Amino acid sequence: METLKKNLFNKAGLYYSLARTGQFALQGYLLPWMDFLATGKKREAPPEFKNHIKEALQKIKQLHEKDLENIKNEIYPIKVLYPENPIKHAMRYPQVLRDAFQASKRRKEKVSDKFFEEAAEYLEDVPEYYKRNFHYQTGGYLSKISAELYEHQVEILFSGAADAMRRLLLPFMKVHFQGSQGEGLQFLEVASGTGRFSRFLALAFPKAKITCVDLSPIYLAKAREQLKEFKNINFVQGAAENLPFKEGTFDAVVSCFLFHELPMNIRQEVLAEGFDFLKSGGFLGLVDSIQKNDDKEFQWALKQFPLDFHEPFYKNYVQNPMEALLADAGLKNVQSEAGFLSKAVCGVKS
Ligand SMILES: C[S@@+](CC[C@H](N)C(=O)[O-])C[C@H]1O[C@@H](n2cnc3c(N)ncnc32)[C@H](O)[C@@H]1O
Repeated sequence: METLKKNLFNKAGLYYSLARTGQFALQGYLLPWMDFLATGKKREAPPEFKNHIKEALQKIKQLHEKDLENIKNEIYPIKVLYPENPIKHAMRYPQVLRDAFQASKRRKEKVSDKFFEEAAEYLEDVPEYYKRNFHYQTGGYLSKISAELYEHQVEILFSGAADAMRRLLLPFMKVHFQGSQGEGLQFLEVASGTGRFSRFLALAFPKAKITCVDLSPIYLAKAREQLKEFKNINFVQGAAENLPFKEGTFDAVVSCFLFHELPMNIRQEVLAEGFDFLKSGGFLGLVDSIQKNDDKEFQWALKQFPLDFHEPFYKNYVQNPMEALLADAGLKNVQSEAGFLSKAVCGVKS
């Protein structure tokens, strides 16, 4: 009976996750047409995309299977899969299309540093490398519309696999903290954005105290709104490389999709600071894009991504393995694991 239940869960879960992937892939299908409307030319996928589509689908399926295995093994609860309100989701899609149209115009004109008034008031307080329309998105990370669309756009970009990729770090954390629910633990999440990874972290470790940091006050406000059910999360605005915490404060310092957006020297500063904030025996981990040598089949995607999206530090990121940067920062027992286009990398402060 138990085995039957498990098999049913596996099958139903996989159908659900694959249907979700299909749904986001369909939404993505219309985006090149926005490009056509904006520029008069439809952006074609590179030939490698067509040649590797089978492998990509296989990798997405494997990622979903592993995700379900983690749920079954109680690394995180099934609640991580709950969808948002479908009406809210559908109502946002026209805005996603409109933003794709505007981003296509920016891409064509190579405009990556024009902000509108809403963002202007924050520009003085953020570092130079941050003053740009990452991904050519409207207002960079400094507008309400980008905070509203961000998670939806990322899920379309990764065909419904982004959430499962974010969760790649959690099994490492569960092992490190010996299956704990987070009792007595203090976690710091840098660059928490609108709080998508924070939600999964809080569900996996419901008793941990979590501090979420982001440079964007607008993304932080969105995170606060989306995570209001979690009383164990607090929010701090600031730069990951210059934070006001004391040495040895946290049991874990983590981030998701941050490092590829930072210049090399800032990547090293963030790691050095994260290391200092950790207690001895603490855990430092991240999820981010795969890099050169991680997966031969996706080398084309690593080249294509910075051409399609404004990502000025990505080429350098890809060339400099995060595993080596963590070891250089003094972390021991550095491990990593890839899933589709992302990988989790982590180490321990001995
Ligand atoms: C790609 S988003 C990732 C957001 C979130 N972690 C997720 O999983 O969706 C990158 C985030 O990093 C933040 N960010 C970039 N540079 C930062 C820095 N130096 N310090 C703090 N946050 C930063 C941005 O504001 C943005 O919210």
